[in-house]
Amino acid sequence: MAEGSRPKASVIEALMNFATVEEMASKPRIKWKRDPKGVIPLWIADPDFHVAPEIKEALIKAVEEERLFYDDDVEAREAMAEKIRRRNGIEATADDILITQGVLPTFWLAVQYACKPGDEVVVTDPMYYPFYRAVEMTGTKPLYWPLEMEEGYRFDIERLKELITPRTKLIFVCNPHNPCGRVMTEEELRGIGEVAVDHGLTILVDELWEDIIFDDRRHITLASLSPEFEERTMTVWGFSKTYGVAGLQMGYLCATNKEMMEELRSIAQGLLRGASTLSRAAAKVMLDDTLKWWREALMEHLHRIRAICEKRFAEIPGVEVPKLEGTYLMFPRFNYGMSSEELEEYLLKEARLRFTAGTHFGSRGEGHLRMCIATSEAIINEVFDRLERALEKLR
Ligand SMILES: Cc1ncc(COP(=O)(O)O)c(C=O)c1O
Repeated sequence: MAEGSRPKASVIEALMNFATVEEMASKPRIKWKRDPKGVIPLWIADPDFHVAPEIKEALIKAVEEERLFYDDDVEAREAMAEKIRRRNGIEATADDILITQGVLPTFWLAVQYACKPGDEVVVTDPMYYPFYRAVEMTGTKPLYWPLEMEEGYRFDIERLKELITPRTKLIFVCNPHNPCGRVMTEEELRGIGEVAVDHGLTILVDELWEDIIFDDRRHITLASLSPEFEERTMTVWGFSKTYGVAGLQMGYLCATNKEMMEELRSIAQGLLRGASTLSRAAAKVMLDDTLKWWREALMEHLHRIRAICEKRFAEIPGVEVPKLEGTYLMFPRFNYGMSSEELEEYLLKEARLRFTAGTHFGSRGEGHLRMCIATSEAIINEVFDRLERALEKLR
């Protein structure tokens, strides 16, 4: 498989470090359109980058070839299975893959597969809120597994064991974790897998953020750790975070357990139609090594942005910032005597910055704001200039 050649540094800068408030204001994207001009949006996990040229070329080629008719999705599923074998350590084939309309529908699918109304699903608190919504919408009950900032947001397996009852059927795992920014250790993943095996639970692992890993950490796919874990696990990935292509609305689920996959396909049939032919045509370059250079350049850029955030936060009193191990979402806690929602409102009015209140992600998000840091150095510095001035007034 040919590895794409890395463009010059100036080209990469122009792709990932170009954003200014003025320029982004005219872009057709919800991130910058939700609030009045001049507000810097930090609320949604969408990067302020251009789309990689190779992805655009694949899309243009697909339009030129008129790939707009009915077609099967075998080619895309084969490319996904090949990537999973190479990068995730699961011996998957195209038959083990279900293409979905982004990652989100897989949460609902997992509950439909594993639970009856009244059954219980383990979710962490805090957690990306669509996991909660999938539980609420299906007549099942959430069991909240607390994660504590004071403990470095570690996943305490003893606490997980205490939660499980005979009605518990499913565990939702998000690794790397949104919004806590943790990359789970092998020990934590094994702990979860063992609890699932002991209690006969299904696991859904959302690995959408697998490429966004800081320092010398390693992303580990839970299902790759043992055949017993693999048998009860469905793992899901997508493209939206690494490549900034949420609009393609494409995700993929892998389950090598044949009965599980058959049941998932049967639930999905007639309801979930997979991704469009155009999205599928762009999948290959994002799955093979054509864009290895993009993934590497992205992490170099994000390390620089994280360093700015850490330095600037350290200069502001009354803010505690969990170490960002993975994702481009920071989750600082502000000790300013305001709730998350009050602070979100205050910073919107006073600083023209749009964060997301931490309570969106569960009760343990109180006092926190979530911020997407995938932008340019110029914008991130402007964010901190505004934040400092606004918080100063509260002291
Ligand atoms: C952990 C996680 N899962 C799923 C999604 C949704 O992804 P998609 O838009 O590709 O469905 C997000 C988006 O931020 C996310 O952070």
